[in-house]
Amino acid sequence: MSEQAEIGVIGGSGFYSFLDNVTEVTVETPYGPPSDSLFLGETGGRRVAFLPRHGRGHHLPPHRINYRANMWALRSVGVRQVIAPCAVGGLQPQYGPGTLLVPDQLVDRTKSRVQTYFDGEPLPDGSVPHVIHVSFADPYCETGRQAALRAARGQGWEAVDGGTICVIEGPRFSTRAESRWHAAQGWSVVGMTGHPEAILARELELCYSSLALVTDLDAGAESSEGVSHEEVLRVFGENVGRLRDVLFDAVRELPAADARACGCATALGGQDLGLTLP
Ligand code: ADE
Repeated sequence: MSEQAEIGVIGGSGFYSFLDNVTEVTVETPYGPPSDSLFLGETGGRRVAFLPRHGRGHHLPPHRINYRANMWALRSVGVRQVIAPCAVGGLQPQYGPGTLLVPDQLVDRTKSRVQTYFDGEPLPDGSVPHVIHVSFADPYCETGRQAALRAARGQGWEAVDGGTICVIEGPRFSTRAESRWHAAQGWSVVGMTGHPEAILARELELCYSSLALVTDLDAGAESSEGVSHEEVLRVFGENVGRLRDVLFDAVRELPAADARACGCATALGGQDLGLTLP
């Protein structure tokens, strides 16, 4: 039982060191190793599994993260709902550093990432997943989004309800021309990790929602001098305490795993997958 959890959080040590009764669990997956061990613990009576997205010590750049292994590992310890905090740049002047945005849409501008479990490749056990086309019109779980928004408001942080996150390949930041183009599309924020986490969660019938913390105005914004990694780390560090409070409250706001009323739990519609989910 101590090796099981119901809720997954993808985020670093600034978050999981505040859980109770933490145990470290190493998980193998058919897709190779996840970014790190899972850290399982409790908060408010809920069992939570934390996974450091970039690995301990932050050694994995966004394009080298094994996203399939990460989501599979979370599901294999019992997780059915995932909250994923991430740092993003603001594309619109009203989304300056310190803004918390709970996106309801994403645009994939990544280039090299495997974004499906159903790619026709046989698994190590010899089974071959069938070709599956998953609906993804609404990439985020609405129940999870509302839980995040309530939690933020409860902490006195007026989070932005909805908006589009543009996910770039990285690890470099955008040029000014790219950034102005992203902004002109009306997209709200830009990050490097929200995709393919969201679609892989959907393919595993997991609920997935995001807490996007704006750490900088992206390069295209009028007053921006261009983004630096130091600025991103500094602003994230300044906000990590209150982000953690929101996160822990959001975890408590989520429904019990067997009471999920959203469509995420049945995203594959009972199809024969040729793939045994963990
Ligand atoms: N993460 C934080 N700030 C970012 C930015 N401006 N672009 C992409 N990813 C980011």
